[in-house]
Amino acid sequence: MSLFPLPLRPEDQRLVDRLLAQMTLQEKIGQMTQPEKNSVRPGDVARLGLGSVLSGGGGNPDPNTPQSWREMVSALCEEAQGSRLGIPLIYGVDAVHGHNNVVGATIFPHNIGLGATRNPDLVRRIGRATALEVAATGVRWTFAPAVSLPQDIRWGRSYEGYGQDPEVVSPLAVALIEGLRGEAWNDPTSVLPSVKHFVADGGTAYGTSQRVDHATLEVDRTLAIAQMGESLVELVDQGAWQIDQGDSLIDEATLRAVHLPPYQAAIEAGALNVMVSYSAWHGIKLHGHRFLITDVLKGELGFEGFVVSDWAGVDQIHPDDYGRSVIDSINAGVDMVMVPFDAERFIAALRDGVERGEVSVQRIDDAVRRILTAKAALGLFEQPQTDPALLNTVGSEAHRDLAREAVRESLVLLKNGNGTLPLSRTGELLVVGEAADDIGAQCGGWTITWMGGHGATTPGTSILGGLQAELGQDRVHYSADASGEGVFPVAVAVVAEEPYAEGMGDRAELCLSPKQLQMLERARKRCDHLVVVLLSGRPLIVTEPLVGWDAFVAAWLPGTEGRGVAEVLCGRHPFKGRLSFDWPRSQGDLARTPNAQHLWTVGEGLNTGVSGAVSV
Ligand code: BGC
Ligand code: BGC
Repeated sequence: MSLFPLPLRPEDQRLVDRLLAQMTLQEKIGQMTQPEKNSVRPGDVARLGLGSVLSGGGGNPDPNTPQSWREMVSALCEEAQGSRLGIPLIYGVDAVHGHNNVVGATIFPHNIGLGATRNPDLVRRIGRATALEVAATGVRWTFAPAVSLPQDIRWGRSYEGYGQDPEVVSPLAVALIEGLRGEAWNDPTSVLPSVKHFVADGGTAYGTSQRVDHATLEVDRTLAIAQMGESLVELVDQGAWQIDQGDSLIDEATLRAVHLPPYQAAIEAGALNVMVSYSAWHGIKLHGHRFLITDVLKGELGFEGFVVSDWAGVDQIHPDDYGRSVIDSINAGVDMVMVPFDAERFIAALRDGVERGEVSVQRIDDAVRRILTAKAALGLFEQPQTDPALLNTVGSEAHRDLAREAVRESLVLLKNGNGTLPLSRTGELLVVGEAADDIGAQCGGWTITWMGGHGATTPGTSILGGLQAELGQDRVHYSADASGEGVFPVAVAVVAEEPYAEGMGDRAELCLSPKQLQMLERARKRCDHLVVVLLSGRPLIVTEPLVGWDAFVAAWLPGTEGRGVAEVLCGRHPFKGRLSFDWPRSQGDLARTPNAQHLWTVGEGLNTGVSGAVSV
């Protein structure tokens, strides 16, 4: 049985036809418009006939509780129901590792960790749990899964990809989509996936990003709102905005063989929405790429859902000519535009384009038909609001247990000299590193805020808390900076990358900081066996320090349930994860080229009990 929901039930088909016949041009364009909630005033939804509203990363209500999320979203949905034609609104969020903007939601490992599990059944269950928590807040659309295949880990979005090979990515993307759907698309708890970012977002070349002018450091409105200030200057020095949103200089055969397969798989699984990439392919921005969007995605791959632009991505086609940008993107095949700030400016630009004959009415009708079809497939016309009883599922124990299971399966053991792991359940343990007690660092970017943050940004358990729970409070001795007296049989050191998102996480070099290396030196002197746990969104170059470590675990960005790390370290569960990214040997090997040297390659990962012999 095809899971693809089209052709629609005859009654839905008739509904879409009837609405299209009744809609004015203004109402049609309204359906194609998606502003961010902070730019929407009361009354705008009905007045402009808006088809959708989104929350960007950190686009949270105040207070940030599941209940106030629900109230915020429901108010907008109600307004849409009260508009002339009563077409339901669809609200979108980035629930990319759980409903990650919401304080109290279950935060799952970022995709790089799920890639290491190679477990579609697990990812399907994560999709379902995420859908329940998202639907609880009235939201029926998530901008996930990213099916990016990051080929150069200097990219700040590496962790959003399940892996570097389509064979790893496609089955997990399909599993997430199936989980988000649940029983059927018109089930009131199904959540529409957005498969992103079309296409080859993970194939861009270092140095080709144009997002930030590296000489003047002038920033656009988005970055101004994000208030990066001083840290932007510092990060740009370290390589921020060098590769994200850049140019993919690969040939068509590579684009088709490496980057396209997950889209095909997602469409076969019934995906009804695709998001366009900020990046370019040989200098042509994807947002204006008619060949790739209309000929390949909608034509060859037979995609019948709708295409949404990325946040202000349309504006980048012709930075000095917004009207032309809008016309070119709609003609290229974009159906809904994530505006995000000035909906009326977009609406006016598109209306002008239509009135001047530069965008055909047929193209507008096609876009609106696709949007309404997806809404009908989701059952939004019959049930525009979700069940408030779902609020009980947000951050529920069952979901946290599932997240903990995912954490356990995502850990990749890369070195285990002298059978250091699992830890002995008797004796004293030294735990060091600020990151051992930092839920924010465990979660990484796209958590409560766009960039993520440090500390108890949302409820969860830290790795330290997990070790204390496993071994008993009094046997675990913690020193954040590894200072202090006494030598222990074993020390567990947790080191982490700073949280980041998108191009803000692009880096010229990937290594541990001098401060972290000094901390590890101190730890080394205070133990017989040193276990290093790395929290990171990608491999870091560890070739030299690794020599002094007895055991090394890549824990990625595990999310709120740090106890899962402790359970595996303590041998309650085995190490099972396998790399879904190659682990480069030196700074010269960060891009995945045929000449790059690797310490470990995709598929590697030890099981507990296998001791030692990892040659460096
Ligand atoms: C992000 C949004 C975020 C915003 C910050 C955008 O590029 O994708 O999610 O809220 O910037 O202002
Ligand atoms: C990101 C997308 C995200 C969107 C909405 C953009 O900046 O590239 O991945 O879905 O913002 O937050």
